[in-house]
Amino acid sequence: MKKFNVAVVGASGMVGGELLGLLESRRFPVGEFYPFNSGRKPAAVVFRGKKYACAAPSLEALKKADIAFFVSTDEVAAEFAPRLAAAGTWCVDDSAFFRLAPGVPLVIPEVNAAELKPSKKLIAGPNCTLTGAAVALAEIHRRFRITELRLATYQAVSGAGKAAMGELEEELKTYFKKGAVPKLKNGKFPRPIAFNLFPQVGGFDEDGNSGEENKVEAELKKIWGDKKIRISVTAVRVPVLRGHSLAAWFKVARPCSEGALKKELRRTAGLKFFEKPGDYPTPLEHGQRTEIVYAGRLRRARTAANEFQLWIVSDNLYKGAALNSVQIAEKIAKL
Ligand SMILES: NC(=O)c1ccc[n+]([C@@H]2O[C@H](COP(=O)([O-])OP(=O)(O)OC[C@H]3O[C@@H](n4cnc5c(N)ncnc54)[C@H](OP(=O)(O)O)[C@@H]3O)[C@@H](O)[C@H]2O)c1
Repeated sequence: MKKFNVAVVGASGMVGGELLGLLESRRFPVGEFYPFNSGRKPAAVVFRGKKYACAAPSLEALKKADIAFFVSTDEVAAEFAPRLAAAGTWCVDDSAFFRLAPGVPLVIPEVNAAELKPSKKLIAGPNCTLTGAAVALAEIHRRFRITELRLATYQAVSGAGKAAMGELEEELKTYFKKGAVPKLKNGKFPRPIAFNLFPQVGGFDEDGNSGEENKVEAELKKIWGDKKIRISVTAVRVPVLRGHSLAAWFKVARPCSEGALKKELRRTAGLKFFEKPGDYPTPLEHGQRTEIVYAGRLRRARTAANEFQLWIVSDNLYKGAALNSVQIAEKIAKL
């Protein structure tokens, strides 16, 4: 079997750690392995039982790879990925930088793998929040065309990286020691997150929408190849460590029964659909190292004809990031 030399930029981070584990567990044919971090502090990672020191990336070092995974920052992806892709290395980028760039495929393999082409070496993976909706509603959208989608998100702290997860833990420890949730200095979040939640993920635009809400709308439109669908989102950070949840309301263009929608959900790739009302996914049970998206509580909404509701849970670090990137690489390997 052909082997691929693999670089991981951001190997010491949260998504990087998951990515390494998935390359191993899914037996991706890795030849040489090159891990990178910021170089600001020494870091080592273990891959296939061997310890590797991480180094700061350079174009020359990255060029040794056939596939480079970017799981670091927008700036790092912007600096290296276009030049690396032009030099012939496949670049799979999990940052937000290229997701909406024309000519850069934004890919969830179960939904739009056909966008992957040998001529397009730079590929973006989507924001972790919309992945659940993009997968769960893909077949319903194809068959009945969703015209309007409303989402309320319940986003885990790991979606904001390793430091954010550490903050929740620190706040909880302080609470149990001193009886009050502290206000951390230079924290990742705009408010304390322990025993709390807040409707802010990213900064706000002049219309009052958050960065995350705008990303979900724009990226979902690109992935589904549908500019007309109307999408409205309230993104909320919750004190869950891992696993994003979504409450979705969607209107379909053609009248259809709940039974017809269930049929689509049952055959949707990468989705497990819970049919009984008392059976539903939760982030603790279905958002921890899970390779598929989960949905339940399908029902007719009472607000409009042809409107339905669905509850969706997915692992933000797996399907929302690392797993999606590895699945992209698995497709690339076959091109
Ligand atoms: N967390 C999620 O659920 C999620 C989902 C989808 C996409 N993403 C995206 O995935 C990327 C990584 O997120 P994360 O949650 O894993 O963040 P993280 O835990 O903060 O890790 C960031 C990684 O990037 C490295 N890094 C930072 N600056 C760098 C530089 N100048 N050069 C090279 N490496 C650098 C860090 O190295 P040091 O350890 O040396 O600082 C670390 O390895 C981000 O682009 C994020 O938007 C995350």
